[in-house]
Amino acid sequence: MYNSGIMKKNENDFRKMKNAEPVVMLTAYTYPVARCLELVNIPILLVGDTWGMVEMGFSSTRDVTMDQMCDHIAAVRRGAPETHIIGDLPYGSDATPEKALKNAKRFIEAGADSVKLEGPKYNVIEFLVENDIDVIGHTGLTPQTAPNFKQAGKQKKEAERILQEASQMESRGCFMIILEHIPEELGREITKRLKIPVVGIGAGSGCDGQVLVINDLLGLGGYWPPFSKQYAHLDRIIQTAAAQFAKEVKNGTFP
Ligand code: KIV
Repeated sequence: MYNSGIMKKNENDFRKMKNAEPVVMLTAYTYPVARCLELVNIPILLVGDTWGMVEMGFSSTRDVTMDQMCDHIAAVRRGAPETHIIGDLPYGSDATPEKALKNAKRFIEAGADSVKLEGPKYNVIEFLVENDIDVIGHTGLTPQTAPNFKQAGKQKKEAERILQEASQMESRGCFMIILEHIPEELGREITKRLKIPVVGIGAGSGCDGQVLVINDLLGLGGYWPPFSKQYAHLDRIIQTAAAQFAKEVKNGTFP
């Protein structure tokens, strides 16, 4: 394991970033990518269950297992030893407070600093926090249970529910919230009301910070959500490199 020499941020450091500086978060699933992200000082990495969709080609995050998540957390930790790592509890792993605690401890052992869970599982959040696990809440579009990937919170009643969920997550002890794919105004309103940092993905510019799925940002995949931006086009680079290699093997210029 190499050491980049930067200081890992903890729950308290992130709480202090509210109204002080934007929280920059990315997903990471592998050693080499985590290494690159630490080298450019991305302070917090989410080993998200999106791994199942963007790296494995599953049609849903529900197919992701605890064993797979632990392997990826360990890989990301080896690549980013000084970066705060969030482990994303996969579908069903947080079904009861006891099960969630057992699985959160597995994540911590694998190298995570905190865990994220989707939806209004308030008793689970409270139990984890009581047992010294740092927890991040996730509301808005929650892919583990949502019937589709459409924007959530467009109707007044649903917007109110999301606002209540975010507020409850804060009062039950979450130190940060992720809001996914909701209208900009709702993202802004929730960010204003909460005292903890609110990180958005497709939740507009009013949040305290932003997170993107690394494959979306890199242009590595076949589909990108409407709210993501491709800062690179790795798809094209891979195709060009592989085609060049094939050409050189065929014409005898490599090796
Ligand atoms: O699993 C994940 O990558 C996530 C982000 C979309 C926030 O939950």
